[in-house]
Amino acid sequence: MAKVLVVYHSQSGNTEMLARSVAEGVTKTENSHATFKRAPDANTQDIKNCDAVVICSPEYFGYMAGAIKDLFDRTYEELKDDPEIKKKPFCIVISAGNDGSGALTHIERICKGYRFKKVQHPIICKGKVTEEILAQCFEIGRTIAEGVNAGIF
Ligand SMILES: Cc1cc2nc3c(=O)[nH]c(=O)nc-3n(C[C@H](O)[C@H](O)[C@H](O)COP(=O)(O)O)c2cc1C
Repeated sequence: MAKVLVVYHSQSGNTEMLARSVAEGVTKTENSHATFKRAPDANTQDIKNCDAVVICSPEYFGYMAGAIKDLFDRTYEELKDDPEIKKKPFCIVISAGNDGSGALTHIERICKGYRFKKVQHPIICKGKVTEEILAQCFEIGRTIAEGVNAGIF
């Protein structure tokens, strides 16, 4: 059973739509389960218990959302040397008005600190959330779940 944590922050709903689509891609995959959580509700146990994590953040002021940073702040010390965390597959989904690169760069840097393993290219949604980008998010959810179940990651 592939257990995928989809963690997100969203103020005006864009990142939430993307995250929901990722989670749907996971749950529509055989033998897979998505845990769908707002970042303030997530904790070390959620990260430890999953087989893969998808981090979904808006870009605010050229950086990740504060709530996503707060999740890292709350969990890093406990998890950084945990062998269960090492090489945990992850990928990133960003919602941005017109850029997204700042949020992406900083999340990737922190994920290196956790020693997570990047298994998919990030998705950056610039501007309006379209059906096309939602389909990409769905696919990334499916691909991660399938990859975990196949033992590829
Ligand atoms: C406080 C604030 C700061 C923002 N800063 C940026 C930014 O630096 N770069 C960018 O491309 N978009 C920026 N945006 C636009 C958001 O990234 C974009 O509207 C995003 O879709 C919001 O996601 P949400 O609906 O999940 O909150 C900002 C929006 C807000 C509210």
